[in-house]
Amino acid sequence: GVLATSGNRVKFPKATRRLPQALIIGVRKGGTRALLEMLHLHPLIQKAAGEAHFFDRDENYAKGLQWYRRRMPPSLKGQKAHLENRVDEITVEKSPSYFVTPEVPERVRAMNASIRLLLIVREPVTRAISDFAQLRSHSLAAKANATSRTKLDGGAEEDYGKKPIILPMCGNPTRSLSSFESLAILPDGRVDMSWRPISVSLYHRHIAAWLEAFPRDQILIVDGDQLASNPAPVLASVEKFLKLRPALTPTHFYFNATKGFYCLRSLPPGQQVDGMAMLPSSMNHPSSLPEGKCLRESKGRRHPRVDPSVVHKLRRFFAEHNRRFYEMVGEDFGWPE
Ligand code: A3P
Repeated sequence: GVLATSGNRVKFPKATRRLPQALIIGVRKGGTRALLEMLHLHPLIQKAAGEAHFFDRDENYAKGLQWYRRRMPPSLKGQKAHLENRVDEITVEKSPSYFVTPEVPERVRAMNASIRLLLIVREPVTRAISDFAQLRSHSLAAKANATSRTKLDGGAEEDYGKKPIILPMCGNPTRSLSSFESLAILPDGRVDMSWRPISVSLYHRHIAAWLEAFPRDQILIVDGDQLASNPAPVLASVEKFLKLRPALTPTHFYFNATKGFYCLRSLPPGQQVDGMAMLPSSMNHPSSLPEGKCLRESKGRRHPRVDPSVVHKLRRFFAEHNRRFYEMVGEDFGWPE
């Protein structure tokens, strides 16, 4: 039970830090933060603050699992089990660079071969543009702050992993940054596959090492475009994958027209029963629901306008790579060609 009594003393179950039982491995700009925050509305999910970058950075990995475990939040084993069909809390960590770092899958497997993996993907050309928008905003922030060491906006939360990447300027550094078009397409007209925003979007290349290290059914591939447009059903599939009882409902999410995205509303646990939000009738009107929270401004940035012929060219370029990805994972995401 929740409380155990021995003599006059009442013992409270102790929260301990545990290694994650589930990881959000990427992809960068796929909606990793939204996925983690939304999942965290589930009463049995604990999330690590920030990004641990344990498996992708050699200097962190060298510190060992004890170091990693100390980065995890305290979680309860068995306590909520009393209320929640004897399921322990699940600790989740997300570091989007895990997906694209070749050493990571083997390292994760060495820690826990039965860990559950979540990969959130997004239409690759839009993802590349989003990536560029973030690099540009970081590089502008770094320029504005040239005297201090380039502490990227978002800090530990959102860089590539090993090295901060600053965009090349075109010639005179006071001139505007290179355009997406000129970085994505080489002077000879070919797509620059070595440019990070492009190479990260070549999902089939990165997934290969994960599929070598883990059985397919240990990886859930989440459609990031669906998470953005209608989160509740996506979260239901994540709950199922993690063997959590269904607790997340459409009431947890509301569309904020100003933000242009769904925002999150945490509901007291007593109001969630078997997938239904049981709200007192006084709370049936949206205005009387608990106040919600949107993700911060860097989530849902304005994208630069990209020449439609370049978008078209990139979509055609990615078509073959996407098909290879669909084949490897056995799922078709229907991205435009
Ligand atoms: P954009 O800024 O390009 O719109 P990540 O957290 O992995 O960096 O992903 C950021 C992306 O999450 C955003 O990219 C946005 O499209 C997407 N996203 C999905 N659901 C969101 C939500 N509810 N609020 C804000 N952004 C969301």
